[in-house]
Amino acid sequence: MNDKPEHIKKKEETLNFLNKIKNLPMIPKVIFNVTKMLEDPTMSTYALSSEIGKDQGLTAKVLSIANSPMYGLQRKVTSLEFAIVVLGYKEMSDIVTAISLADTMKVTTDKYFNQEEFWLHSLVVGTASKNISHNLGHLDIGSDAFVAGILHDIGIQIIHKFLHPKFIEIIELVKKENMFLLDAELNVLGLTHQDIGGYLAVKWNLPETLISPISYHHQPANAQTYKTITAIVHLADYMAQFHKMGSFNYGPELTLDESIIETLKFSNIEELGEFILNYKDLYSQTIASVRL
Ligand SMILES: [Fe+2]
Ligand SMILES: [Fe+2]
Repeated sequence: MNDKPEHIKKKEETLNFLNKIKNLPMIPKVIFNVTKMLEDPTMSTYALSSEIGKDQGLTAKVLSIANSPMYGLQRKVTSLEFAIVVLGYKEMSDIVTAISLADTMKVTTDKYFNQEEFWLHSLVVGTASKNISHNLGHLDIGSDAFVAGILHDIGIQIIHKFLHPKFIEIIELVKKENMFLLDAELNVLGLTHQDIGGYLAVKWNLPETLISPISYHHQPANAQTYKTITAIVHLADYMAQFHKMGSFNYGPELTLDESIIETLKFSNIEELGEFILNYKDLYSQTIASVRL
């Protein structure tokens, strides 16, 4: 009776391990400071930009997002103060939140993981998710889609940071056996980076609108709730690979989950295919703008 299948045992071991991590990063303080300031309509853009400007890394990232063609601003934004004027407080708050959460999990680049490429991939998928939401008429979910897109692969960083020997095992399986990343993760951990990212999102008390796309971005058909935003992040992630931009995909190619045709109300696969092709220039311009 004790003979549980191997993958269940591995899953329990991984969950036990994650539960025991005492220093799992908490939501960073800068989010509280900045979002509080952003909620105060009397706050001057100068005071705000000085607060954000204390963090140079954050500043550089805010500007690269605001200036990425995918984000869709018409004007070039060269200072934080101007960025706040152009974006408004709400969008600025979304951007700062997304970047700061992503940054808490930052790891150092090694031969198995390139932090810069990873950030680029996150930025592209985040801005594309927002762009696609607007393009498909879902104006209400654009900002959540942006944050979800930035955070969708955060589970990969958690594995690298806290389960490093397992991360190496996974990457070796992908490279040597040409295994799909998700299969290799299941093989080694009994869980995927989607499950692990979702686990952190729950710990962080993030809303279900973010938990769902983080947990199901490779198989949006499995999402029980918030199917639209999950389908959008899936599509943005798939397109990043399709257009060979900001590629952070180990192993064989990602597969397109065709259930999104119905979820996103495309008439057929051809129409979806055309939609994907129409994004080619925007993806390449975005990558070029960030790499400058
Ligand atoms: Fe992923
Ligand atoms: Fe991804």
